[in-house]
Amino acid sequence: MIFTSLSPNAETDDIVLAIKTFFSPRKWVTGSAAVSLENAFKNWLPIKHAFAFSCGRSCLLAILSSLNLNKEDEVLLQAYTCVAVPDPVIWAGVTPVYVDCEEQTFTMSPADLTRKITARSKVLIIQHTFGHPAEMDALLKLAKKHKLFVIEDCAHAMGARYKGKLVGSFGDAGFFSFGRDKVLSSIFGGVAVTNNSLLALKISRYQQSLPYPSRYWILKQLRHLPMTAVAKPMYEMFSFGKALLWLAYRLTLLSKAVEELEKQGRKPSFIDKKIPNALALLALHQFQKLERFNAHRRKITKIYNRELENSELVLPIEKKNIKPIYLRYTVRSNMATRIIREARQNHIELGDWYQTPVAPAGVNVRKVGYKPGSCPVAEKLCRQSINLPTHIHISENDAQTIINHLRRYR
Ligand SMILES: Cc1ncc(COP(=O)(O)O)c(C=O)c1O
Repeated sequence: MIFTSLSPNAETDDIVLAIKTFFSPRKWVTGSAAVSLENAFKNWLPIKHAFAFSCGRSCLLAILSSLNLNKEDEVLLQAYTCVAVPDPVIWAGVTPVYVDCEEQTFTMSPADLTRKITARSKVLIIQHTFGHPAEMDALLKLAKKHKLFVIEDCAHAMGARYKGKLVGSFGDAGFFSFGRDKVLSSIFGGVAVTNNSLLALKISRYQQSLPYPSRYWILKQLRHLPMTAVAKPMYEMFSFGKALLWLAYRLTLLSKAVEELEKQGRKPSFIDKKIPNALALLALHQFQKLERFNAHRRKITKIYNRELENSELVLPIEKKNIKPIYLRYTVRSNMATRIIREARQNHIELGDWYQTPVAPAGVNVRKVGYKPGSCPVAEKLCRQSINLPTHIHISENDAQTIINHLRRYR
């Protein structure tokens, strides 16, 4: 089976490291890895300040909580996003306001942003969807004009460049994620960054005040890589692997990427926590692979681009001066649901980010403040999106198998 999700970044050495750490309880909670991870970010981006947390959601919450926002303040963010973005806004006690997307890039539309800014707007979250940098010049110009504090959401975009510069250092602050399906992965984890020293002081105090996640939660994450590695080869063998993972989630031996209560705008217990040493170790180990992973993503993307050029699908465009990393290569079709369903019958699991303006399916839109119909382009993209995998385990042959499947739809 060809997978798009299910911890696609895990290589044998990552799985071995997870198992070794599982059997080294002294390394689970505290240690030097979190600081090393923060230093790695400072040098790489480069940026003055970096702070590691339990996940990207915790990073965003830490940044927002350090801004002295008031109850009536509004935070602008794009529709066609994960509930992981509006939830921290709600947890910080402020109001999310959704901005529509640009059809060609899945990122925020500067034209709709102009319409959505009000006197109450205080913060702008710019999401670099699928690793395609947003239209920074236009968005930053509007932010400056309306005195908005800019946070870059780089959860999909570690290594992507806009006009030669890495995303993450354009805004007043930014954050990255090491979620299971992200550019690099330690199952959970994230880093918040800023060049603003006053803000850094506040985030640092906030970080210091937080506890670590429980040992039980840390162990769940260390189990994740070995268990998915066992399940994947047997995924379709009498559905054995699939059943194994289903059972592991039911028995809470593994954590879901998004918990049910988050779909109602509520906060799960792993939020507002420091990154534990064990996950920082896994993230640091993956950090060395960033260039190789992203070069591979671009290589596979070139094959999709070339081979699907004359198909019925709408392909992503690469604007001048922009270097995306294609976390997922997202094509569009009015037959998206059928294509994804039939691909699965052909042993290909394609991605469905995002099927709803605030994903995943089942999010209570009222609770997260999304008004249906308010972002028509995002809603259209949700009906049309098909994510093709680009991760390190996708060979040229796999890409060709996917292309052959997609070419059947005329
Ligand atoms: C666009 C986007 N932003 C932010 C996040 C939050 O990252 P994390 O899962 O590490 O909390 C996610 C992932 O869930 C995401 O897809």
